Amino acid sequence: MMNKYYKNNSMEMPHKMLVNFIDNNPDVKTVIDLGCGAGKDSRFLAKRNIKVTAIDRVDVTNFLYKGLEENERENINFIQSKFSEAELPKSDMVISYDALPFVKKEVLPEVIEKIYNSLEDGGYLLCDFWGKKDSWYGDEKTVFLEKEEIEELLKKFKILKLREVEQDGETALHLIKHWHTFWIVAKKI
Ligand SMILES: C[S@@+](CC[C@H](N)C(=O)[O-])C[C@H]1O[C@@H](n2cnc3c(N)ncnc32)[C@H](O)[C@@H]1O
Repeated sequence: MMNKYYKNNSMEMPHKMLVNFIDNNPDVKTVIDLGCGAGKDSRFLAKRNIKVTAIDRVDVTNFLYKGLEENERENINFIQSKFSEAELPKSDMVISYDALPFVKKEVLPEVIEKIYNSLEDGGYLLCDFWGKKDSWYGDEKTVFLEKEEIEELLKKFKILKLREVEQDGETALHLIKHWHTFWIVAKKI
């Protein structure tokens, strides 16, 4: 099941909003991908010649470097670690897609503080959180937040974008579910 998830996840395209963001912010040179999974976003960044610290508690190295040229591979440094235990290097940007909802609610403020401290001044956080109208709401291992809770968590940042989206869509295992997602772009000020 786990391997199937990573296999499917490895074939997905990078997040469109990340691609747009990088197109419009060519000064971003160093990125941390927190919860990189099979690495669709890390690979995209590596191909743009951005240095990526890819972090995941699962050893995803079988998937992470797939299809990359040697010089692109060298752009990704993988660290196998839980977010709460990882040492985060100083970076221009942190991305964390579909990963922070799996951090225990009581640990989340600590992880967000860690992200904040790892960013250069003016650095960006691109991430998502999930809301209570999501089909998975009620799952004990997953955190669902209200908009106000997200604003409180990110109070040290300037929130540039907080876009709430509800739509039916596929999971990596090709099941249809209702997604309730808050897409975030925030800046360290
Ligand atoms: C649903 S996948 C998303 C992968 C990728 N970011 C993407 O958007 O395709 C979530 C990943 O986050 C990792 N993860 C979740 N919680 C974590 C934690 N507390 N510490 C380290 N990794 C974590 C999981 O192992 C998994 O690979």
